Amino acid sequence: MAFNLLKGKKGLIFGALNDKSIAWKVAESAFEEGAEIVLTNAPFAMRLGDTDKLAEACNSVVIPADATKIEDLELLIEKTMEHFGGKFDFILHSIGMSPNVRKGITYDNLNYDYFLKTLDVSALSFHKILQVSRQKDALNNWGSVLALSYVAAQRTLYGYNDMADAKALLESIARSFGYIYGREKNIRINTISQSPTPTTAGQGVMGFNDLVDFSNRMSPLGNATADECADFCVTMFSDLTKKITMQNIYHDGGFSSMGMSRKAMAVYSKNLDEYSEFKDVTHRF
Ligand SMILES: NC(=O)c1ccc[n+]([C@@H]2O[C@H](COP(=O)([O-])OP(=O)(O)OC[C@H]3O[C@@H](n4cnc5c(N)ncnc54)[C@H](O)[C@@H]3O)[C@@H](O)[C@H]2O)c1
Repeated sequence: MAFNLLKGKKGLIFGALNDKSIAWKVAESAFEEGAEIVLTNAPFAMRLGDTDKLAEACNSVVIPADATKIEDLELLIEKTMEHFGGKFDFILHSIGMSPNVRKGITYDNLNYDYFLKTLDVSALSFHKILQVSRQKDALNNWGSVLALSYVAAQRTLYGYNDMADAKALLESIARSFGYIYGREKNIRINTISQSPTPTTAGQGVMGFNDLVDFSNRMSPLGNATADECADFCVTMFSDLTKKITMQNIYHDGGFSSMGMSRKAMAVYSKNLDEYSEFKDVTHRF
């Protein structure tokens, strides 16, 4: 159901790869709520994904850009402003990738070139987008910028690897840049810490299905879906949330405040003797 929450607003959305992507759902919801949008993704994603289909459905255009490359971002912001005929109101950063995770390399044996790539793609890209946008004065006063994070930035979760460090940096960038953009233009910058969600990036995390099940059992409201995340993002882009900035906001059904739930205990208590750290060859992950 649409409320016209984003009527008259214009926004740039990074990271819609296919119809499982969180950014895909945000684009659909933003469009439904009356926003005009521009979509962008890495050039490789143009070949692998369906972003063009989404653009057609949302009466939008796709401007490819590698979010780690300043030249690409400068062109992207210029073309986006050209498309909108001026400044715009919101940005979604929905980008994540770790070559160490992809290649199954453990956290105590990281490849440092890959680690730098993880940080560049998943966190520094956020800073680069903000810096280029500010230099080009691309955002309207009282604009809203969001990036997607995960609770592993605060708490250690088995298997999340160097993405945990990238998310910690991402959340810190939101605070540091939030101060600058806030004092100058009243632009707010926040991260949304989302439940595990079955997407292309999500499913690359080791033991993902078990993680989804565990976090669902632990969360009093159950895991938040990509559609629900989109609803929340739209609210954060709307004028209803004008004074929220420099925050990491959990959108996780309550998971981040739990220690143990009845549902998780019921499963755990049946399997107490089955695991031995010394027998488990994957214990170092
Ligand atoms: N799926 C989950 O469980 C989950 C949970 C919490 C947070 N998140 C975060 O949500 C965000 C979106 O991920 P998703 O789950 O929708 O998966 P996804 O695979 O659909 O999206 C990841 C996107 O990053 C893009 N990308 C990768 N490298 C890029 C680059 N160099 N330049 C521009 N774009 C690039 C990919 O093309 C893809 O569109 C990520 O930040 C992810 O860490 C996901």
